[in-house]
Amino acid sequence: MADSTSVNLFKALVGAVRMAPGRSEIVVDAATFPTDGYVAESVAGLMNVELRAATADRLDDVLGERTAVVLLNQVDYRTGRLYDMASATETVHGAGARVVWDLCHSVGVLPIELDALGVDFAVGCTYKFLNGGPGAPAFIYVRKDLQGAFEQPLAGWGGHRDPFAMAPTYEPAAGIERARAGTPDILSLLALEAALEVWDGVDLAEVRAKGLALTGFFIECVDELVGDAVEVVTPRDGMRGHQVSLRHDDARALMAELIAREVIGDFRAPDIMRFGFAPLYNRYGDALSAARALADALATLKDAPARP
Ligand SMILES: Cc1ncc(COP(=O)(O)O)c(C=O)c1O
Repeated sequence: MADSTSVNLFKALVGAVRMAPGRSEIVVDAATFPTDGYVAESVAGLMNVELRAATADRLDDVLGERTAVVLLNQVDYRTGRLYDMASATETVHGAGARVVWDLCHSVGVLPIELDALGVDFAVGCTYKFLNGGPGAPAFIYVRKDLQGAFEQPLAGWGGHRDPFAMAPTYEPAAGIERARAGTPDILSLLALEAALEVWDGVDLAEVRAKGLALTGFFIECVDELVGDAVEVVTPRDGMRGHQVSLRHDDARALMAELIAREVIGDFRAPDIMRFGFAPLYNRYGDALSAARALADALATLKDAPARP
């Protein structure tokens, strides 16, 4: 646990490029959350490598001997689509490259087998489905056998082999501790520790089953109560996270109406409303209430005078 997702992404990407001498390209998920694209662009500039875009399920055409690292999101933040981590990781490895998975929208949603799948790097936040609270610290994962070769660029005293020796030269800690930069956010970590206790003894397979059922039920309610007035952009098959995204031309105004009805989702420009379902405390009744509030909000907007 350390820093924010953006900072950990920076460390992971630089570390991955450094592990691939002679390779000259970073490939980034075309639909990525903006910070990933910005950080990747910055790393590409800093390390004098190219940047290319690709989608997680169509990597074959893009990857090649030039590719050092591929940065992918397990769940698309906009549509809620879930990508197959096993097959994408295999494809990246087949090209001799490393993969960095951004797990912000999947951690706490489903079992994620990083070790078993041989994933190289992963990062993610704890303030979404893990309920860490605003600004909760992020995490970085580096595969065990790569940790000794992981040269992260923020070589601060926190990652030193012996931080309190105050040695004049940097010597990284042997394992994942080297991913630290400076002083940990102790107050935030304490809050996160309390948030994570809720997960003790929880089976993620059950969380996943309930999340799929909740999101599926919400989609059914929306179909029934709202019909074609909105477009469901989240996949209806099992390849989704625990969010449902709906498209509507007036999504911003609709979400404001929903928030006034105490249904708090969010708006993503230009026309997406996102509804997140946390199976540990959201119920089927909540899903039905949200769909009813949506029907009500649509009726209010329809009755409102046309905007200039
Ligand atoms: C997929 C994804 N990556 C990265 C971030 C940003 O992370 P941070 O603000 O912790 O740097 C977010 C934030 O919502 C996100 O959704």
